Amino acid sequence: MTTSLQYQPSQESLSKLTPVLTKRWLSPDAWKIDVYERLDGYTALRKAFSSHPDDLIQLVKDSGLRGRGGAGFPTGMKWGFIPQNDGKPHYLVVNADEGEPGTCKDLPLMMADPHALVEGVIIASYAIRANFAAIYIRGEAVHAARRLRAAVEQAYAKGYLGTDILGSGFDLDLVVHSGAGAYICGEETALLDSLEGYRGQPRLRPPFPATHGLYASPTVVNNVETIASVPYIVLGGAAWFRSMGTEKSPGPKIYSISGRVNHPGQYECGLGVTLRQLIDLAGGMQPGHRLKFWTPGGSSTPMLTDEHLDIPLDFEGMAGAGTMLGTTAVQVFSDQDDIVYATYRWIAFYHHESCGKCTPCREGNYWMVRILHRILAGQGTHQDLDTLLDACDNLLGRSFCALGDGATSPVTSSIKYFKQDYLDYIEGRKAPMFHGELVGAH
Ligand SMILES: Cc1cc2nc3c(=O)[nH]c(=O)nc-3n(C[C@H](O)[C@H](O)[C@H](O)COP(=O)(O)O)c2cc1C
Ligand code: SF4
Repeated sequence: MTTSLQYQPSQESLSKLTPVLTKRWLSPDAWKIDVYERLDGYTALRKAFSSHPDDLIQLVKDSGLRGRGGAGFPTGMKWGFIPQNDGKPHYLVVNADEGEPGTCKDLPLMMADPHALVEGVIIASYAIRANFAAIYIRGEAVHAARRLRAAVEQAYAKGYLGTDILGSGFDLDLVVHSGAGAYICGEETALLDSLEGYRGQPRLRPPFPATHGLYASPTVVNNVETIASVPYIVLGGAAWFRSMGTEKSPGPKIYSISGRVNHPGQYECGLGVTLRQLIDLAGGMQPGHRLKFWTPGGSSTPMLTDEHLDIPLDFEGMAGAGTMLGTTAVQVFSDQDDIVYATYRWIAFYHHESCGKCTPCREGNYWMVRILHRILAGQGTHQDLDTLLDACDNLLGRSFCALGDGATSPVTSSIKYFKQDYLDYIEGRKAPMFHGELVGAH
């Protein structure tokens, strides 16, 4: 019998690995500025300063880099929306909230290679003419916040931050700000409210952050992985970046794979790798487990099944399969996992994290978690399935922000693919998991 330690991924799967953002992760002490500099650190910044800011924006446009925070918006285009010569201050805000269930890529990046992010922040700020930047990191990530703050201090001490950086005439201050641990503060406008000191709730759009962001001034909000990609694009060029991934989804991507695989973790591959290859890289399925359902990019992306093992995990491939790439948080579940219970846990999360600003999300999640609990308690009815789908119908496209939309994904996709599992509880073929009614929040 082959043990998980002896497991050898196929050559085809191994050839999919493209360590770019992760290449320094295994170098000892790479988070220290001296080591980072020895490993090519801050050379992209020097190169960037020899270019005009507009040329850097064009370079990022040409690279085809798309936002790594979930929506996949073209980064260069976003930077290009910042009005120039408007007399207003400009801001860069890095979204390091990383709250999407299953997602674990930004935190390891900030722990292993914080200067890659700091260097990306300086280059991006120079490109959009921002003299103040903030990294908004989730409150629980105390370890990563400490490491980032140390990196920022080191960068100031070496003259990479502050006034007249490397004699370029460009000034930049960078602040690491810890949130209080709310998923909604990852939504970019709620994040901006939180950064300004208000309760984090989404803002009405338009106006968009590009014109009315932090303190009502032009602001770019980008994900950690997006900004950390920038120094590599500056050094390698657009064509090099496009040599990885697919035509419409170029570049490398950090996939975080968790669940019933032998070696969960982060695997950096060109966009378009398949789940079959990722599972292979992750040492295969755990012994005795057969793949049943999985999320391509966190619980807000509709789940898929073992029929979808060979679809490219890129923006287009996932859209074609009726889901989204999201944060590439690949969560793998097996035939020994209960899909109704998993869905219940996810909706309990959305109910807990709903900011309460709009009725569909606040009330919809409240009722959905109760109905799911009732089904798991063996007291569900056939009508409950219709009510769940009806609630989703009133959430999707009717919520104030994408948290409400995302909350429908686990419910609609699990009923679509695994209705029988719900019926097993409703029709008494499966023993109840809970007893009695749900009391309290969830
Ligand atoms: C409820 C919710 C939570 C989000 N959480 C995050 C997050 O933790 N990190 C992140 O980068 N983007 C998150 N986003 C997406 C952001 O709103 C935004 O699209 C992203 O930061 C833009 O960066 P990008 O263009 O580099 O992807 C979230 C969106 C929603 C609706
Ligand atoms: S959808 Fe949910 S999280 Fe978003 S504004 Fe409405 S209540 Fe708040």
